[in-house]
Amino acid sequence: MHEKLKGIETTRGQFAREIDAVDSPGGLEQLRVRYLGRKGLIANLFKQIGGLDPEIRGEFGKALNAFKQEATERVERAERELAERETLAGVDPTLPPRPRNQGAYHPLTLVEREVKRIFSKMGFAIVRGPEIEDVWHNFDALNTPHWHPSRDDTDTLYIEGDDNLLLRTETSPVQIRTMQRQKPPIRIVAPGRVFRNDKPDPTHSPMFTQVEGLYVDRGVTFADLKGTVLQFYRHLLGWRISTRFRPHFFPFTEPSAEVDVSCPFCAGSGCRICKQSGWIEVGGSGMVDPNVLEIVDIDPEIYTGWAFGLGIERMAMLLYGVDDIRLFYENDIRFLAQFGGRR
Ligand code: DAH
Repeated sequence: MHEKLKGIETTRGQFAREIDAVDSPGGLEQLRVRYLGRKGLIANLFKQIGGLDPEIRGEFGKALNAFKQEATERVERAERELAERETLAGVDPTLPPRPRNQGAYHPLTLVEREVKRIFSKMGFAIVRGPEIEDVWHNFDALNTPHWHPSRDDTDTLYIEGDDNLLLRTETSPVQIRTMQRQKPPIRIVAPGRVFRNDKPDPTHSPMFTQVEGLYVDRGVTFADLKGTVLQFYRHLLGWRISTRFRPHFFPFTEPSAEVDVSCPFCAGSGCRICKQSGWIEVGGSGMVDPNVLEIVDIDPEIYTGWAFGLGIERMAMLLYGVDDIRLFYENDIRFLAQFGGRR
């Protein structure tokens, strides 16, 4: 082999050993400059071409071009390999991923959605009313006598400076607003927040959530009420649930009843949660009082109706086994994170 060609071979062998030894991007860059740079070893070899014997010139040029190409490719490959090693350095790919701090629906939102889903399937429209109500819709139109203690500011939160405005104490005024707007047949449920001047304790919160139901048409009976409420709680809590209607009094219904469901924790046999009674109170109900129908211009000689007001926190407590209503309003992430996000 011509001596000049040997020179290329020597440089080539040297390059191969050095690039195999490179272990950092910095080292690789130095090596690239030394061989492939504008004043590098390969550029120097190219400069020799002009002074070569014509017979050897062709072969030398070819060999040198091949070396240059090989060196360029080899540097590029080393670059890729080093980058790959870099990303894996210090990383244990078997570790579990970091938890994502993703928000979740509030349990009361989940329950309210479920309530709306069930009643929609039964043919009820979903409506809403204002949280700031007037005295007429919240009390007068609901047949509440003027002397009734629920009107006192020890019970009801009035808007400062306006005796006529208050935070609604129940969702029942939505019955009135609906019947003012619409004539029978009426079949609605109205979920929403209500407010009372109560001190928080495990079963009381100054703000809580109800769902109002109202069904008015010709020939609506108490049996329809019982069937609808039973069906609702079975969809919500399971098919073994039963309901019980206890005589009670509400100004806007006659007759009135409080609604109990059989305790889902002990199947009615008696436990700590139902205080050994086997039953848990979940809301009020009754046949719409004829006085109320007259107030909204619906003829009680033609139409009858029933209504209910059920507690949504109570549903959530039964569904999820929560024993303190305050937990729903303290925004403790450890509590809220337990209910999952999607449904
Ligand atoms: N508004 C009542 C309350 O908050 C609950 C209630 C009772 C609603 C009877 C009704 C009903 O619609 O018919 O305690």
